[in-house]
Amino acid sequence: MKFFIDTANLDQIREAQALGILDGVTTNPSLMAKEGITGEENIINHYKTICDIVDGDVSAEVIATDFEGMVREGEALAALHPQIVVKIPVIADGIKACKYFSDNGIKTNVTLIFSAGQALLAAKAGATYMSPFIGRLDDISTDGLGLISEIRLIYDNYGYETQILAASVRHTMHILDCAKIGADVMTGPLSAIKGLLKHPLTDIGLAQFLEDYNKGN
Ligand code: G3P
Repeated sequence: MKFFIDTANLDQIREAQALGILDGVTTNPSLMAKEGITGEENIINHYKTICDIVDGDVSAEVIATDFEGMVREGEALAALHPQIVVKIPVIADGIKACKYFSDNGIKTNVTLIFSAGQALLAAKAGATYMSPFIGRLDDISTDGLGLISEIRLIYDNYGYETQILAASVRHTMHILDCAKIGADVMTGPLSAIKGLLKHPLTDIGLAQFLEDYNKGN
């Protein structure tokens, strides 16, 4: 399972990269704004900086909502760095743009997926990744993980190679459940990734080992 970090915060990206388990980064306009990154030039420079920090794929979202605009923006983003993946919303023009990019060798991440039907269209358009937002479904009393299971079943039925990128992951149990279901990738906050490490018996055991070692010194 690939681990992406869902942030535009450079310190967190560096920390996750230093852990040695990071496979990529996802961002969106809201995450950029949260870090105070606004304006086209600043956003572009921020993408380049992120690509310099991480080894894996970096999703960069288009702002246009029409086919021509998405193609123009997506081609410019893809030209920034070979690690850039063009992130496109799952609307009709987005599906059209996804097909265009996949035909032209540009990696894509179809985003804002909330149904299996949207996921099926993204796969048919040749998306590299597609992002179901599980936390936002849970927020409205709908089973986010159930959607991941449905998509896994559909993709396996037909051998679609589009990678299921479980997004809007909020906590460690989301990560574990996505791993059990077989999501290809998860993207979440650093806190959820580091949460996987926590166990009181590890802390107690380590403290005991150190105490016993020091008895002889
Ligand atoms: O990857 C999608 C993500 O950025 C949305 O997460 O927590 O705002 O629902 P959240």
